[in-house]
Amino acid sequence: YRHPNETEAMRIDCFPDIDDRPNAEAETECKRRHCIFSPVLDAVNIPKCYMNMSAHAYRNKSATSRSNQQNITLEKRHPDVSLFGEDIQQIRLIVEGLSNHLVHFKITDAQRNRYEVPIPLQKNSEQMDQPLYDASQSGDSESGFYFQIKRASTNVALWNTDIGGLTYSHQFLQIVTRLPSKNIYGFGENRHFGLRHDLQYRRWPMFSRDNFVNAGDYANLYGVHPFYMCIEEDGNVHGVFLLNSNAMEVLLQPLPALIYRTIGGVLDFYMFMGPTPEDVIQQYTQLIGYPYLPPYWSLGFQLCRYGYNNLSNLKEAVSRTVDAGIPLDVQYADIDHMHERLDFTIDKVNFGGLPEYVQQLKTEGIRFIIILDPALNSEVANYSAYERGFQKDIFIKWPHGTSPDSKYANNTDIMLGYVWPNGKVAFPDFFHPDAPEYWSQLINDHHKIIKFDGLWIDMNEPANFGTNEEKPWNWPANKEPWSLKCPTNSTLDHPPYKPRGVYGLYLSDKTLCMEGLQGNGTLQHYDVHSLYGWKQTEPTLSGLQTATGKRGMVISRSTYPSSGRNSGHWLGDNDSKWSNLHDSIIGIIEFNLFGIPYVGADICGFNGDTNEELCQRWMQLGAFYTFSRNHNAINQRVQDPAAFGPAVAKSSRQILEIRYLLLPYLYSLFYRTHTQGGTIIRSMLHEFPKDQRTWDIDTQFLWGPCLLIAPVLEQGKITKDVYFPEGRWFDYYSGNEITGKRMMTVNAPRDFLPIYIRGGYILPTQDAAINTVHSRKNPLGLIIAPNTVGNASGEFYWDDGDNIVTNGSQGYILTNFNFSQNSLQADVMHNNYRDLDDLRFQTIWVYGVPKHPENVIDTGKRPIAFKYYSEMKMLYLYNFSYPMNSSFSLSWS
Ligand code: GLC
Repeated sequence: YRHPNETEAMRIDCFPDIDDRPNAEAETECKRRHCIFSPVLDAVNIPKCYMNMSAHAYRNKSATSRSNQQNITLEKRHPDVSLFGEDIQQIRLIVEGLSNHLVHFKITDAQRNRYEVPIPLQKNSEQMDQPLYDASQSGDSESGFYFQIKRASTNVALWNTDIGGLTYSHQFLQIVTRLPSKNIYGFGENRHFGLRHDLQYRRWPMFSRDNFVNAGDYANLYGVHPFYMCIEEDGNVHGVFLLNSNAMEVLLQPLPALIYRTIGGVLDFYMFMGPTPEDVIQQYTQLIGYPYLPPYWSLGFQLCRYGYNNLSNLKEAVSRTVDAGIPLDVQYADIDHMHERLDFTIDKVNFGGLPEYVQQLKTEGIRFIIILDPALNSEVANYSAYERGFQKDIFIKWPHGTSPDSKYANNTDIMLGYVWPNGKVAFPDFFHPDAPEYWSQLINDHHKIIKFDGLWIDMNEPANFGTNEEKPWNWPANKEPWSLKCPTNSTLDHPPYKPRGVYGLYLSDKTLCMEGLQGNGTLQHYDVHSLYGWKQTEPTLSGLQTATGKRGMVISRSTYPSSGRNSGHWLGDNDSKWSNLHDSIIGIIEFNLFGIPYVGADICGFNGDTNEELCQRWMQLGAFYTFSRNHNAINQRVQDPAAFGPAVAKSSRQILEIRYLLLPYLYSLFYRTHTQGGTIIRSMLHEFPKDQRTWDIDTQFLWGPCLLIAPVLEQGKITKDVYFPEGRWFDYYSGNEITGKRMMTVNAPRDFLPIYIRGGYILPTQDAAINTVHSRKNPLGLIIAPNTVGNASGEFYWDDGDNIVTNGSQGYILTNFNFSQNSLQADVMHNNYRDLDDLRFQTIWVYGVPKHPENVIDTGKRPIAFKYYSEMKMLYLYNFSYPMNSSFSLSWS
């Protein structure tokens, strides 16, 4: 096969829905669609039937413009030509600058309102003196109406729709743009095979779905994030967000070009001009909301499994871990701790004594998190969670009178499904005005019984088992077969075009029927389906906070842009496979692009039995997930890190102790993203976008700008190929200096994780302990890694780690560090943290010190004890003690 030439690469598929008919049939259908039929036999994936712009396009009807806004009305060239019917004849494009770095472009029906996504955006109107973009170009070309958005400084078109393809019908909206480069990152949630997308006509579907990570190669997974970032050829970077929540897909083709196809809502885009990757994500998160500041304890190691099956197994896992000296901050209970998998209950037989045990753990400094699934059993007697919801009438419903199951739900219109519990379930509609209060009340009442510290919300795509099937896979044997069946004659469940990549035969597969009514009858599930998890998150967090009086933490399986404001995310049901170990790096980097920096995969793998080597390697990589949790499926072999014997236990302990040592650095990074947006886990290209060799690296990553993690990802390997971009790097362990730009193969025996520090940075540290309650009392320290000219800087944020953060009113300490040549200056910038815990900076490690100093003194000319390691070129300063709230300086000669 050859690759398409340029004109072939411009073809826009006219058969997004079908491409496997025999030619004669396909040709007839192609002509009916007013498209051009011309199969190219010897080339890969080139559409055989493609859009004919002279037939399909829109043209400019009228335009007005004022200062920062253009308003263009478009009409169809040929009213009767249509791909999927119900074309909207007049549409309106608005292009408006919102700030120097943010441009908004939106296409709506010119006459009627359509559904728009109800997430709150912060559009602070900022000064616009020097926009980084030029959005002035638009007009009619052969392919119909087009517009361009250029980077003003380079005149590069970031968007250019002149190849046509714009389609705007009731349930099929398509827009196509040329891309300025082949470096596209993001879109989700999917399992991507490389961090950088390829352009081989792959469709990436987005529609929240309870699919396990390896379900089909290009399946849509739990969350929806229609956001990408692009590195232009010259290393400038921009990002684009499509605010749309309908089932959609994107497709990248080799021109390079990008096609969006969504089946509802409006085309509502925001472009962030960067020009660096971190700028782009700061700009994006400024719009959708800055990420949550997780409590300090939630940065510790966490242990979970589905199928402890009883309290003694759970206790044994905890003791094994603690006895092996492995730091542990959070223990979980999955659905098996509930009575018949009913939310807000506890199995008194197998988990009797759990609440008392949770209290005991707390005294040892270990927190507890329980799972909550949204769906509630409607069939058990006296189940108050369901009954209260029934009373308040807050469940998702069928349009009145259309329920096939009204006899089961006391003659109501509740849309029933089936998930984990042994009976038909009802789904709280979090868009119902009374639902947040109801949900939060349930959380508060349950907290009176069991003192959980955080909540884990699962199955909120929302997941339903066996929709449209004979009966669900785990339907109780003693019950008559039943499943949720969606109407076959509805254009919601059977839209004229179902984004082909969307997994399953129907949109409703594995979930609710698209007819479902929400928001007290004002919203259709068809539109808000992918927002279910997002909408559940805020009341879950606020319920948790009122119950505990503490900051708390929520992790959610389903997410949408802005979910990061209230929660973190785990990457869902992976397999205990080496390939999934690697994929997890792509996943955690992408969720940082999506504004959800608190993220991790199930360490050691969820489905399938793990093995010792894989689990050992996964504990190493997982120690550098921001959300670090070992989690396992039911009936799989035990996989907490101590279960494999002393070798794995020891290396897990050692690597977690490094994580714990670095927690003040990690927490300070979280403070930055919480107050300024941006990322924590970064790809290499994120920090070095101008270095082309970084553009497709996804086997190593960074914490913030400077901590490089290079895990082994293959079975049997004991070396690692690491790329060091330009600059000065230090081996974390040996102090060895590495001069970038270069690739290096380094040793990485089974019990070892290569870690490096980039010159130019200062990292705050604190001695590790068995959990953060204890580590937070330990001495603080600094690691200084100077750059090529001998400078370094960094910062330290500290608060009580668990109070509810309300816009700066809480006490905290913020200290800046600046190092130059041989002197360090620490300046306390903010100092209203009352509960000082008598914490002090007591040690400093400096990398790359060329020669043995004669003496080290501080501000008061007091001598400071030190050791110099000439092999490692490292200087160790100790035997001093500066209170955390006071500025200090020291230097040597
Ligand atoms: C889902 C979750 C998984 C959990 C299981 C049982 O598969 O993704 O993490 O353990 O349900 O609750």
